Amino acid sequence: MISKQRVLKGLKTQVVGKKLFVFESIDSTNACAKTLAETGTPEGTVVVADFQTSGRGRLGRTWISEPGANLLFSLILRPTLKKESAGILTFFSAVFIARALERITGHSFECKWPNDIMLNGKKCCGILLENSFQHEKFDFAVIGIGINLNQTSFAEDLNERATSLFKEFGHTFDRVSALQELLRESDSLLSNVQRGEVTSIMDEWNSRCAMFGKPVTIVHGEDRTSGTALRLDAEGGLVISTASGESTFYAGDVTIAQ
Ligand code: BTN
Repeated sequence: MISKQRVLKGLKTQVVGKKLFVFESIDSTNACAKTLAETGTPEGTVVVADFQTSGRGRLGRTWISEPGANLLFSLILRPTLKKESAGILTFFSAVFIARALERITGHSFECKWPNDIMLNGKKCCGILLENSFQHEKFDFAVIGIGINLNQTSFAEDLNERATSLFKEFGHTFDRVSALQELLRESDSLLSNVQRGEVTSIMDEWNSRCAMFGKPVTIVHGEDRTSGTALRLDAEGGLVISTASGESTFYAGDVTIAQ
């Protein structure tokens, strides 16, 4: 099990991880973090688990992770952002995760819209952002992060699309050191969000995204749209050029035609 003592030892963060909850098994770290946030836990609180019985994914999906192999955690933020700027937190998360994973492995990681981290063309990390507002003002955000660190195999239907650091690099990674690196990178980038410096985060996300200028297909529910990925709009929506003009998407799954 992840040791709380080891995580806190030498962490040296300003905000992130000052309060840390570690569980051997939990329904969902996001669900727990949401309850803690509703009862006033401070910004930077982190909830970590070795295993989730009801891990949540994007678009109502489940997130399944081998017990004790990966990193499953949620970070609570209380940003002073306007409601329409809430999407920046997804890009903030993707950037700090990519930076931390690069530090850990020495290899480069790509960002994929809307909130995946890719390694050698396969997904190794998913982000689930759950925001709470009160009267149009931000109350709190829960950023849920699942990183496939040491998972050895995936279900057949995921094998083509998902991977772990273990599968790509051929050795296991220390979960505590990896978590510390992630908490440090989030803590350092958080100051940019707090100062309203979001352009540099978007620039870094864009430079890590290999999708622009390429033919893509977006699937959202029953809808399927193909075109060329052009750019992100100010709210983080994906703008695509299609046969009938430009369309902007705020949710969905993208595949890039090779
Ligand atoms: C996705 O669908 O790609 C997002 C997956 C997010 C999974 C993480 S695991 C830790 C946190 N707790 C949850 O229940 N979900 C997120």
